Amino acid sequence: MIFLLCSNLSSLYVIIIIIITTYLTAFTLGLTHSSQWSEHFPDCAGSSQSPVDVVTSLTKYDPSLTPMTPLGYSQHNHQPFTLLNSGHTVMVSLPGWMGLGGLPWLFSAVQLHLHWGSGGPSHGGSEHTIDGLSSEAELHIVHYNSELFPNVSAAMRQKNGLAVLGILIEAGDETNPGFNNIIRYLSRVRHAEQEDLIPGFDISSLLPKDLGRYYRYNGSLTTPPCYQEVIWTVFYEKVKISKAQVRQIS
Ligand SMILES: *[C@@H]1O[C@H](CO)[C@@H](O)[C@H](O)[C@H]1NC(C)=O
Ligand SMILES: *[C@@H]1O[C@H](CO)[C@@H](O)[C@H](O)[C@H]1NC(C)=O
Repeated sequence: MIFLLCSNLSSLYVIIIIIITTYLTAFTLGLTHSSQWSEHFPDCAGSSQSPVDVVTSLTKYDPSLTPMTPLGYSQHNHQPFTLLNSGHTVMVSLPGWMGLGGLPWLFSAVQLHLHWGSGGPSHGGSEHTIDGLSSEAELHIVHYNSELFPNVSAAMRQKNGLAVLGILIEAGDETNPGFNNIIRYLSRVRHAEQEDLIPGFDISSLLPKDLGRYYRYNGSLTTPPCYQEVIWTVFYEKVKISKAQVRQIS
């Protein structure tokens, strides 16, 4: 279901299909990937490179899509999580009993990580944009297809191997207690490769309330190695965190 392919000097625009469960859908992707990545990671020049700009007027409603259902997100069993500064993101490893339903296969959770702006609150740090507009930050919750593959390394390069939830984050007035479960510990991992244990918490507290409206497309990991086999779900509803919380992650 590829609609159109055209290119100009600076970037490539590919039109694919995006699907929102209550909106009209089919969509456009403004590709913004770094041209240098592909020298070392050929997949980064792939035709499904994420992130994308969602052009809402080109999205198409798909009645076959169902709401996303987090499985076991609330069950941290009082086990701590590992918080890691990977150098370009902060990541929390997730236990394999957490998973995701609402897709044709069952997916198991691997990790979540945050993307944020480098230039302070006025420079949106989200990876996906909606009609050209970025949000302050973006949370990605990564899962692998545990019905078809034994582990995430095996799933990564395979068709339908990964499913990532994208949550766009906006600045608001109120402190978001869910996000504080991560933000309050960021000072422990200020430097690249630092990691620490943090108390387990309810991961569903990071999700928007409406899990039934989202943009769906076939894309890739947004950074090298850019494997092109990610089923993306970017929620329509944005999550709000306070301006003070935005400053702490910027
Ligand atoms: C993942 O699964 C593959 C295939 O069964 C296996 O060869 C590999 O050792 C596993 N990797 C890890 C990290 O468990
Ligand atoms: C993603 O690719 C699968 C085939 O692997 C296709 O059935 C599905 O419609 C595609 N989804 C979108 C949103 O384009």
